[in-house]
Amino acid sequence: MAEHDAEVEGSHHADAKSAEVATWLEAVRSADDPAALQDLRVRLLGKKGEITQRLKALGGMAPDERRLVGEQWNRVKAALGAALDERKGELERRALAAQLAGERVDVTLPGTRPPQGGLHILTLVTNKLLEVFQNLGYEVVTGPELETDHYNFAALNFPPDHPARDTQDTFWTTDGRLLRTHTSPMQVRYMETHEPPFKVVVPGKVFRNEAQDATHEAQFHQLEALVVGERVTMADLRGAINEMAQALIGPGTRTRLQPTYFPFVEPGAEFAIWWTNPRSGREEWLELGGSGMVHPKVFEAVGYEGVTGFAFGFGIERLALVPYAIPDIRYMYQGDLRVLEQFRGVL
Ligand code: FA5
Repeated sequence: MAEHDAEVEGSHHADAKSAEVATWLEAVRSADDPAALQDLRVRLLGKKGEITQRLKALGGMAPDERRLVGEQWNRVKAALGAALDERKGELERRALAAQLAGERVDVTLPGTRPPQGGLHILTLVTNKLLEVFQNLGYEVVTGPELETDHYNFAALNFPPDHPARDTQDTFWTTDGRLLRTHTSPMQVRYMETHEPPFKVVVPGKVFRNEAQDATHEAQFHQLEALVVGERVTMADLRGAINEMAQALIGPGTRTRLQPTYFPFVEPGAEFAIWWTNPRSGREEWLELGGSGMVHPKVFEAVGYEGVTGFAFGFGIERLALVPYAIPDIRYMYQGDLRVLEQFRGVL
């Protein structure tokens, strides 16, 4: 009788319990975010949770009932645990999917182009010049910017009291060296270590301690040419300058040599090329630099005998300023993008 009662009570109890369990399972399966799910886990399986309380209550039951009911609650506990884990997995997968969808990259969208640098106008003009001379068979060589009096002046036949050595023109270092004032010292350095015949050009930075204005900087660039061999003449010098002018400006470009004095050439000449100034639209002479036949004193300084040669040198800035109508040489060194960007790809 007692057993029967117990069973009836047990099944009645089991019905109520399964309704309750169904509600819990439903709550777990419909929990919508990880925090709510965690709250449920605590409420159901935590230390003071529903299941724990039910299991504690077993202590007051008869041993048979305790075993039966205990087993049932343990199954419920396992089922709830599994449901909680499953829902947790679902919510995590859902969150990951949402995150991936939000972060999707459309690889077909056009990219954003990062701002691109370009070569400086002086580099462009120098490269163009070197290309012209290389096509004419010249070798490109470079020399030091920190020089000695010997290479910059003495070996080039500058008399000891020449004004160019004056502190107003030359930057001297405290150990008696100097920043080269022109690229001509490389004439001497090259000849000391090579035998003629040869044709070389020397691009490079030079420095002069002078007042700056629209056409003068304390630092600028020159290109030097030196050709030495047997029977090299002034006509060859003319020819070289003509070829350079035609390659730079165009066929038929005229050039002019006018007598002048440089201690390391004899005879010496200033040279200019005839062209249309794009700023004024007028045709005019563009004075480029100095030239002449290598002075016998220079050959003597390097131990050459029985050869002749010519040299010329000019400021690269001049050749960059005038064609592109740049009104002030100082714009070349200010790094102003409004200036720099105008010359992207001009050469
Ligand atoms: C010379 O420097 C000689 N070495 C050139 C030479 C080479 C003559 C070979 C004979 C044989 P000059 O001091 O004139 O010469 O300078 C040459 C050119 O450099 C000038 O015509 C000018 O275009 C440029 N130049 C001179 N000073 C400056 C300056 N402060 N800023 C920019 N360009 C300058």
